[in-house]
Amino acid sequence: MRAVSVKAPGKLNLTLDVLGKRDDGYHDMKMIMQSVDLLDTVTVTLTENKTWECVCDIPGIPSGMDNLALKAANTFFEALGTRPDGLHISIAKTIPMQGGMAGGSTDAAAVLRGLNQLHGSVFSADELAAMGAKVGSDVPYCVMGGTALAEGRGEILTPLPSMPECFYVLVKPEFSVSTPALFRELDANPIKRRPDTDLAVEYLKQQDLFGFCSCIQNVFQPILEKSYPVISGICTMLKENGALASSLTGTGSVVFGIFSDLHLAQLAEAKLSGKYRTYLVRNA
Ligand code: C5P
Repeated sequence: MRAVSVKAPGKLNLTLDVLGKRDDGYHDMKMIMQSVDLLDTVTVTLTENKTWECVCDIPGIPSGMDNLALKAANTFFEALGTRPDGLHISIAKTIPMQGGMAGGSTDAAAVLRGLNQLHGSVFSADELAAMGAKVGSDVPYCVMGGTALAEGRGEILTPLPSMPECFYVLVKPEFSVSTPALFRELDANPIKRRPDTDLAVEYLKQQDLFGFCSCIQNVFQPILEKSYPVISGICTMLKENGALASSLTGTGSVVFGIFSDLHLAQLAEAKLSGKYRTYLVRNA
């Protein structure tokens, strides 16, 4: 039996823009991604059994090949050209599910990195990211992590200067949305407000947190706010309590606020934690 444990960080979309629909049904994106130190732990074990299985310490992850971790393992062994009889993946979850923080994708990326470690790092990070693209649009970014510009379906990645030190208060309201349905709604409505991603990148180069925060925006947010006014309520509370910016991540439902001051972030989290699940995290 050989096993490895890998940390899998959650991600935030600091900016999220959808440029248009493509012929393959996907959308061209332009987003600034940031990994944060809210971590799942993924343990991958090659076993003597005749089964592949994935267990999680909380209920609700899909079974069979709908499970992104198993799909990632399958893709890895296809590329390797051989497959083990027995594989056990165990996931200890911290990242909220249905949150827009790429919880499933980061676990899948961790499986790719873990299996690669168990096989003497035969594949480069770029090769693992290309495998990840077959598993899901966010997986290539999750293989890389850090601060990055993601374009195309999400698989065209450009590393960016790291986010300046800051503190994120994450707030998880209890709703979840269907990503394909949300993209359809976006297609049916003109986008009125877009983030200025290029300007945001300039601010990152200058390590100007305040300037960067003025560019934070997610094109899904105005659509979702119509059905879930709780999003704008949380954004307002975060800003009233010292956040430089606040936004939805991905297709939600997690909303984050960015703070330059740890004490203010702690106070804001304490205020919101009575009503919602909250987390205080940093760049990872
Ligand atoms: O790639 P993934 O399986 O994560 O995508 C889930 C769904 O999100 C796709 O089926 C598609 O409806 C939508 N999507 C999209 N354009 C992207 C990424 C996702 O339309 N760039």
